[in-house]
Amino acid sequence: MKDLSKITEIEDLRVIAERKVPRMFYDYVDSGSWTQTTYRNNETDFDRIKLRQRVLVDMDNRSLQSSMIGEQVSMPIAIAPTGFTGMMWANGEMHAAKAAKDFGIPFSLSTMSINSIEDVAEYTNHPFWFQLYVMRDKEFMVNLINRAKQANCSALVLTADLQVLGQRHKDIKNGLSAPPKPTLTNILNLLTKPEWCFNMLGAKRRTFGNIVGHAKGVADMSSLSAWTAEQFDPSLSWDDVADIKELWGGKLIIKGIMEPEDAILAARSGADALIVSNHGGRQLDGAPSSIACLSDIVQAVKAENSDIEVWLDSGIRSGQDVLKAISLGAKGPMIGRAFLYGLGAYGEDGVRRALEILYKECDVTMAFCGHTNINEVDENILVKGTYENLKAALPYTPAIRWG
Ligand code: GLV
Repeated sequence: MKDLSKITEIEDLRVIAERKVPRMFYDYVDSGSWTQTTYRNNETDFDRIKLRQRVLVDMDNRSLQSSMIGEQVSMPIAIAPTGFTGMMWANGEMHAAKAAKDFGIPFSLSTMSINSIEDVAEYTNHPFWFQLYVMRDKEFMVNLINRAKQANCSALVLTADLQVLGQRHKDIKNGLSAPPKPTLTNILNLLTKPEWCFNMLGAKRRTFGNIVGHAKGVADMSSLSAWTAEQFDPSLSWDDVADIKELWGGKLIIKGIMEPEDAILAARSGADALIVSNHGGRQLDGAPSSIACLSDIVQAVKAENSDIEVWLDSGIRSGQDVLKAISLGAKGPMIGRAFLYGLGAYGEDGVRRALEILYKECDVTMAFCGHTNINEVDENILVKGTYENLKAALPYTPAIRWG
């Protein structure tokens, strides 16, 4: 195993991933839609929430152990489903799932993964969660659900906010595809990424493993945008959620909730968890940050007397962010970019390092705030008004445009 002790924060991993991963795949991860305002606010809003330092409190015997939908976790963080993960590092989903299993946290596999459901099941021999997009081809969708059952997946994550794809300028300009097309620009860029190219020679797959060879008429499915435009079902509704819940028959998580009204509908649907998420700022640019929406959703669900768990993704880059989300009622924060930077930098070792960093930051911050048990942390750890101010005056960040 590599000595990564000098890698001390997620930003270190991001910088190395940017150097090692081909441009189009790094850009895919490190970008949002349109002006990227929501993408940036997801991070900067966390910084505006301030923590209360407590002193002379016994901080011995601390624990981050918790549970998510009844599964015990060594810390309340799950790996979010992300597309193209096997393009950040050869066999990326297999490695990330293994690192998550070893750390004792849940891993979710995207429909748009490179490694297939079966690859991950075989490599980890451990239950994971499968994320589903609702497709027009219902036979294919039912087949995906059955494959997830067969692979012993312990929950289905239904993505509700990607019936249409947010426009991501970088992906269009880069001609994002898996595998990359042999254009001059791509070849020149790949020549500067020898480790990535060498590892890819031994990769199990270089295109979408859940889809190619499984969906009818799909032999080459290199482009995410073409596939989503053609296949994702824009007519998805709460009736479909009920059908999918019945077909699946197990734990169901609904991802992409930003409004209390939708949270109430998610609670009434009988789902086990909902994820407050703006898809990492990759869908509706101009939406508020996820953290700004969290407390109203927690209140709405409480008023329903529902025991649906509220989780959150989008913007978490440190253990402090994790603690802030938990203090505001998110039982299980999820990470996307934070583990992808680790994966792109050092493969499985890099994901492990990302998890260690988040663990340590969360643990030490909890101690500074005078707590020893993560399950007892609540909004009293926050400086009064700092979160309320953020909600009252959703920040304006000047847009950066791509030239
Ligand atoms: C897929 O979920 C994406 O955001 O690209």
